[in-house]
Amino acid sequence: MKPGVLLTRRIPPAVLRRLEEACAVDRHDADCAIPRHELLARVRGKQALLCLLTDRVDAEVLDAGSDLKIVANIAVGFDNVDVAAARRRGLVVTNTPDVLTEATAEFTWALILAATRRVSEGERLLRRGEWTGWALDFMLGMELRGKQLGIIGLGRIGAAVATRAPAFGMRVAACSLDGAEPPWPAGAVPPPVEMMALQDLLSTSDVVTLHVPLTPSTRRLIDDRALSRMRRSAFLVNTSRGPVVDEAALAAALRERRIAGAALDVYEHEPRVHQGLLGLENVVLAPHLGSATTETRTAMAALAVDNVLAVLSGRPPLTPVGA
Ligand code: DGY
Repeated sequence: MKPGVLLTRRIPPAVLRRLEEACAVDRHDADCAIPRHELLARVRGKQALLCLLTDRVDAEVLDAGSDLKIVANIAVGFDNVDVAAARRRGLVVTNTPDVLTEATAEFTWALILAATRRVSEGERLLRRGEWTGWALDFMLGMELRGKQLGIIGLGRIGAAVATRAPAFGMRVAACSLDGAEPPWPAGAVPPPVEMMALQDLLSTSDVVTLHVPLTPSTRRLIDDRALSRMRRSAFLVNTSRGPVVDEAALAAALRERRIAGAALDVYEHEPRVHQGLLGLENVVLAPHLGSATTETRTAMAALAVDNVLAVLSGRPPLTPVGA
């Protein structure tokens, strides 16, 4: 008999076929997250759970899924999974690192450029029919050349963002919360990086970009105090996890022009966005698109499936977390 797998969201058909060849797949085939009560009911008797960052996999889910051998999260972040509770039950938890690094780094640069050059604000104005024509002083932004990019968290994605900085003439400052050596992408030429303390990075950077995982020590890392250290001319970019930033404090700083602008891809309570941000012109708001390319999302699903197939056939997982 094939082992049972609960798949909480649609994945590309070719990847699904590979999973179905080896497993009996129970799919939540919808555009929305699986309702909690269904997750709890349908995980019973399954050997693997293939889930997304929108599914909270806590002790209650793990107890309901007492036959589980693996929780394979289709995301690099795994703050939605209680890894300690999984480990206590002898379960493997896996994530999807590396395959989304380049896509997320590219999107970070899309946000840096959109914020500093007022792309969304300009488009909104144009669509409202309010563009009256070219003018020398119309909608001026900030040029990147010669400016400092401050990267908080120099892991895989932070390093991939850094390698692109010389193309824009930016110098790189970084602060690493774990002190690990930056994992420079294979074949990339590492740019010169000035390592600094968080406070110094905040007060000297023109663009601050966040690339830390969500942990108890990074929750609200960027609060009112941190924002007050930033320059009035500086921009904040977040493609990591929403709760790393105190959204209410950010909305106030943007409204009062204590910083120049921001670009966010992630939010404290997704898919809800803080009301105070929605009406502001100086913030770019994207709906968690960092890894959203066809290539990357396919690779993420494929890696998660590979992890499930490995563990269910008695092999070690490819990308375990907290191993
Ligand atoms: C992840 O994988 O953690 C990303 O947030 C998805 O884009």
